[in-house]
Amino acid sequence: MTDTATLSRKAEFPGLLSDTGKVWHYLDTAATAQKPRTVIDACSRAMGADYATVHRGVYSRSADMTLAYEAARRRVAAFIGAVEAEIVFTRGATEAINLVAYSYPNKGRVLLSQLEHHSNIVPWQLAGWQVDVCPLTEDGRIDLDAAEAMLTPDHTMVAFAHVSNVLGSTLDAARAARLAHSVGAKLLLDGCQAVPRLPVDVAQIDCDFYAFSGHKLYGPTGIGALWGRAELLDAMPPWQGGGSMIDQVTFERTTYAPPPQRFEAGTPAIVEALGLAAACDYVADIGLDAIHAHEAALVARLRDALQPMNDVTVFGPEDSAGIVSFAMQGVHPHDLGTILDEEGVAIRAGHHCAQPLMAHLGVPATARASFGLYSDESDIDALVKGVERTRRIFG
Ligand SMILES: Cc1ncc(COP(=O)(O)O)c(C=O)c1O
Repeated sequence: MTDTATLSRKAEFPGLLSDTGKVWHYLDTAATAQKPRTVIDACSRAMGADYATVHRGVYSRSADMTLAYEAARRRVAAFIGAVEAEIVFTRGATEAINLVAYSYPNKGRVLLSQLEHHSNIVPWQLAGWQVDVCPLTEDGRIDLDAAEAMLTPDHTMVAFAHVSNVLGSTLDAARAARLAHSVGAKLLLDGCQAVPRLPVDVAQIDCDFYAFSGHKLYGPTGIGALWGRAELLDAMPPWQGGGSMIDQVTFERTTYAPPPQRFEAGTPAIVEALGLAAACDYVADIGLDAIHAHEAALVARLRDALQPMNDVTVFGPEDSAGIVSFAMQGVHPHDLGTILDEEGVAIRAGHHCAQPLMAHLGVPATARASFGLYSDESDIDALVKGVERTRRIFG
């Protein structure tokens, strides 16, 4: 994207512009993305003029809403190269991973990595899996040579982040799939940070499950998706019980609907699903190759500005996908974040729900700048100015 294109993009995001027209330098897109007007409008329509329940009503508004909800499932499926019957709408990636951790029938050993988000650690622990941990390479990638050496036929699952939410490192997902399959394990990818940043095609990767959240993909909160191979979803028992997920209910015996309905108990997030479909349209129109190239240029600019600073450590690989974590000697990331906020720059400071990774890096927390398709060079310049001001304050 050209600078002019990015500037006009910012104008499409009401969350980035104050009433006075001042730009907010929002660098926390990895936590949650701002929403374009088209997504906000789609949600307003779905909650206003078009609103009705799905799957139940005999009246035409409900029938129309059911068609729209199922069209949203088709849209989300197409976005990651999948078919609609294999897309389960969930509240987000966290719920999607919990669903697999609890419902996958062949619980055994799961291989995770040192850089996982807590939502790709804790569900496996809670559901009673034996957890093994794959180390990282020096530049902060999941070390697939180490994974190859660690995997055994006891492993029934490998669950890795496609893109790290702290380091921005991108997994060689196709190789991870081959390694998992070579011992008979399945591969679940946590795609939260990948779907807004890279073209994702689950068929091409040849993974088995793919989880992501809508709100990081410029869509609403409260919606996400689990993609799973049809034969794997078929073999999984329901996880939550309630309306919409059944075939027949008696007090003696209940039978269940086929997937994906089997895993969508209760009235679904109708408005949010339509908003997510609008977000997929918006992102696909711009193109993930263009977004990826745009964010790569911003990462290079920020790393070039930070790396010469003697008191700054930059973590993660040079080619990180839209996310740069760093630490300033003698300054807690929370203090840096607070000073930057005074300058109208929003970064994330903390452990980023990745405490095992912080332990590996030897820091309690990092400062993290993460980009979106609306980020531009002015955001980086404001951040760098704020880092320099912080040094003067603490120096
Ligand atoms: C890599 C990764 N996985 C999982 C999650 C959890 O996503 P959610 O809280 O939307 O379920 C996040 C959110 O920060 C993430 O970055």
